[in-house]
Amino acid sequence: MKIEDIKRICVVGAGNMGHQISLCAVLAGYQVKCYDVNPDVLVKANTSSHKYLADRVSKGKLTQEQADQALAKLMFTQSIGEAVSDADFVIEAAIEMLEVKRQLFKEIDSLVPTHTILATNSSTLVSSLIADVTRRPEKVCNMHFFNPVLVMKLVEVVQGPHTSDETAAITMELCSKLGKICILLKKEIQGFLVNRILRALAQEALYLSDMKVATPKDIDLAVENALGHPMGPFRLMDLTGIDVSYHISMERYRASGDPKDKPSPIIVEKFCRKEWGKKTKRGFYIY
Ligand code: CAA
Repeated sequence: MKIEDIKRICVVGAGNMGHQISLCAVLAGYQVKCYDVNPDVLVKANTSSHKYLADRVSKGKLTQEQADQALAKLMFTQSIGEAVSDADFVIEAAIEMLEVKRQLFKEIDSLVPTHTILATNSSTLVSSLIADVTRRPEKVCNMHFFNPVLVMKLVEVVQGPHTSDETAAITMELCSKLGKICILLKKEIQGFLVNRILRALAQEALYLSDMKVATPKDIDLAVENALGHPMGPFRLMDLTGIDVSYHISMERYRASGDPKDKPSPIIVEKFCRKEWGKKTKRGFYIY
């Protein structure tokens, strides 16, 4: 298979990451079907996509014609069969729970053509934890985007021991077609590269806040103004979702059994209160 053979992309999951990945792909000229099991999520994704494209037009970053063409290439659907049956490349961006992803990959594998590559956008789960449920492990890899996908340039591609060189190479080429800068991790490691670095920073920030050394706001101000990060760790957790931070830590804890990997008390508290950050209008900050 060659990169030119990829014409239709399916994105599984229409949440924050999934619908932005879909937009990236239609803006790069691909035909995209974006599937979600939840109709409310699909409606929200559709509304956000229209709004994003309209904003780009009013900012002069896209012409009306380009926006219309992108919308014509984008379809949201609640039918997984319709979404994946003619896809050449599937990017899964569902909830960060291993069992959900394994179930999805099993179903997708049974519905897609034999040539189709299946990539997961998981932030933490390496694809060898998932590939064994498919009949095509050599066509399974990680393709990890960053939030907000439409702005952040990097994508991490992770080649597992089961992933063929061809799959890794085509996935890297697809990233370039989407206008991204991609890096290849030739070895699986939990959290990959960026999130391992980010986690070290967030853990320390949570520790300093838990110890009442400083408030989340002041810790953010320190990181933004002394280290030059565009956002401090608390503002960033609000952007990426405190629910996502919670699930990532829980998956890590389940895998390691190490109490150090449990989510910090403030993350558990905010997760239970549904204070998940920007998406719920309340997290470490109020929106
Ligand atoms: N969706 C789409 N576009 C967005 C956006 C969003 N949510 N937020 C901002 N933008 C766009 C704006 O439209 C604007 O575009 P133009 O310049 O073309 O007009 C541009 O980004 C800059 O926006 P603003 O001026 O409003 O705001 P800013 O300069 O403060 O930038 C930011 C906002 C890009 C989010 C910036 O603060 C930033 O880079 N933050 C750090 C983000 C980060 O670290 N991401 C990685 C997260 S880790 C992760 O994703 C791991 C994972 O596994 C989930």
